[in-house]
Amino acid sequence: MLKSIDCGALRKDHVGQTVTLAGWVHRRRDHGGLIFFDLRDRSGLVQVVFNADISEPAHALAETVRPEYVIQVKGVVAARPEGLVNPNLATGEIEVEVHDLAILNAAKTPPFPINEDTPVRDEVRLKYRYLDLRRERMQKNMILRHNVITFMRGFLNRADFLEIETPILLKSTPEGARDYVVPSRIHPGKFYALPQSPQQMKQLLMVAGYERYYQIARCFRDEDLRADRQPEFTQLDLEMSFVESEDVMALIEALLIEMVDALSDMRIQERPFPVLTYAEAMERFGTDRPDLRYGMELADLTEAVRRSRFGVFANTAAAGGQIKAICVPGAASFSRKRIDELTEGVKERGAKGLVWLKAERDGLRSSIAKFLTEEEKDAIIELTGANEGDLILAVADSPQVVAESLGWLRTHLAAELNLADPDTLAFCWVIDFPLLEWDEEEARWVAVHHPFTSAKPEHWPLLKTDPGKALANAYDVVCNGMEIGGGSIRIHDAEHQSMVFEALGISHEEAQEQFGHLLEAFSYGAPPHGGIALGLDRIVAILAREDSIREVIAFPKTASATDLMLNSPSPISPRQLAELHLKIVE
Ligand code: AMO
Repeated sequence: MLKSIDCGALRKDHVGQTVTLAGWVHRRRDHGGLIFFDLRDRSGLVQVVFNADISEPAHALAETVRPEYVIQVKGVVAARPEGLVNPNLATGEIEVEVHDLAILNAAKTPPFPINEDTPVRDEVRLKYRYLDLRRERMQKNMILRHNVITFMRGFLNRADFLEIETPILLKSTPEGARDYVVPSRIHPGKFYALPQSPQQMKQLLMVAGYERYYQIARCFRDEDLRADRQPEFTQLDLEMSFVESEDVMALIEALLIEMVDALSDMRIQERPFPVLTYAEAMERFGTDRPDLRYGMELADLTEAVRRSRFGVFANTAAAGGQIKAICVPGAASFSRKRIDELTEGVKERGAKGLVWLKAERDGLRSSIAKFLTEEEKDAIIELTGANEGDLILAVADSPQVVAESLGWLRTHLAAELNLADPDTLAFCWVIDFPLLEWDEEEARWVAVHHPFTSAKPEHWPLLKTDPGKALANAYDVVCNGMEIGGGSIRIHDAEHQSMVFEALGISHEEAQEQFGHLLEAFSYGAPPHGGIALGLDRIVAILAREDSIREVIAFPKTASATDLMLNSPSPISPRQLAELHLKIVE
């Protein structure tokens, strides 16, 4: 080793010892006869001192050294004088008096400071990701990610799971998003697809009798990106045989609780995790991934204003729509302009408008107040729980638009008003999802989760009569308003699998072609089975208190799925194209 000890490991106990250190120059201070460096390696920082009286050559060479140079020093550990102890540094009680210095590599001035957490443009950070990763924040996140993965592996190994790898070169299957495909050189015109998840493979491992499988699995989805979505991301993927929903949920709940207790100082709001049905989550929060750290639940005013003289309310109710509202604490002081901005926000989500009512000492003030009877006003106050100083915001529309616009408004305002405690983790389960949903664009039923999810046993007949009413044996785990995992009990027989394909409008021939292997496997004694996949990047981001999963992935892609460091995607040579039997059509 080019070093005898890590920089961050040095303590008072080492005083008097001669040590060799190697690392990067984090910061330098030149006081003439004395030059100080903070020397950094992965373990931390230590102060090293170049004293012309101790070593003239080392001191002279130190004068030429700049930040981020890689150096090796040999010196003696010394206690810092009383007043110069740095209590903010683990190594703050000592320093190293250098007698030998070697420059292992020089460094250009980095495009942004490594030694400060100053804001840097994302494009620059991503282009120089290897420098960004040197910074303390990123290093902390990478270590946390490692610890999370290590914890998960240990937990599942103790629970008798086997880690099994599954192929990356897979077959194109419909799982919701678009596939990334890989052309075959040997088979002209044929393609592999990268896995959107190892879903079919893990089910086949259950048919193969492995009973408990997991994998830290890379997944690839060509979909629109957001702060919580990357084109390639990582799941903790697992599958179990001979289980029911409750078994999978109990295992994951124990894993998450033990993981948080072991790795984080954040507080879990409620344990056991609350369980909401999909219908209840939509009803109360307007979303299937509610943030339970704050209130502002949606209040249903439909019955209270069904006969209102305010036409929008009465007409919406008569047409089978809903009138719902949230009560924003202390927001009666919001300006006209601010309410206009919120109105624009809900309009982007399909609402026709936003009704505001301010709870004031002498009653409700609102542009629609004159249309409301005293009874209606009292009912609105009671249903929303409004107190003096609160702002009630209401939307009248179809249940879908009401949920979407008020669900957005609730999270938007909570963020603006800092209503969510950043140190709290509010986990919950959402269950009883619909099995299928109607896709307007494609004019057909599509699977809400994926086509291998089973319906609740008593709901199978609905597939033929009223497919939209059938509920799935599926569960999502949500934390602080983010879906951090989802899974289901699977179909394990060819008959029910065919029923679902039929409902999805997949013909017998198509099913055979795409899923023949699975259907056939089910005919060789498939055990009842189920599983889940946790979004690893999202879990680490939450624990790291980061808003974007990009901050917890070593080499992430931009929002337009590019890699600014590697400059990918990039063209390939005509020769490669020819080998792959591909032609680019402009
Ligand atoms: P699902 O598609 O719900 O289920 O994915 C599971 C979890 O993976 C995370 N996730 C993502 N994270 C980052 N970027 C993305 N683009 C992205 N997409 C999903 C989410 C999500 O909850 N095979 C099934 C699981 C199963 O049924 O067992 C599946 O993949 O946190």
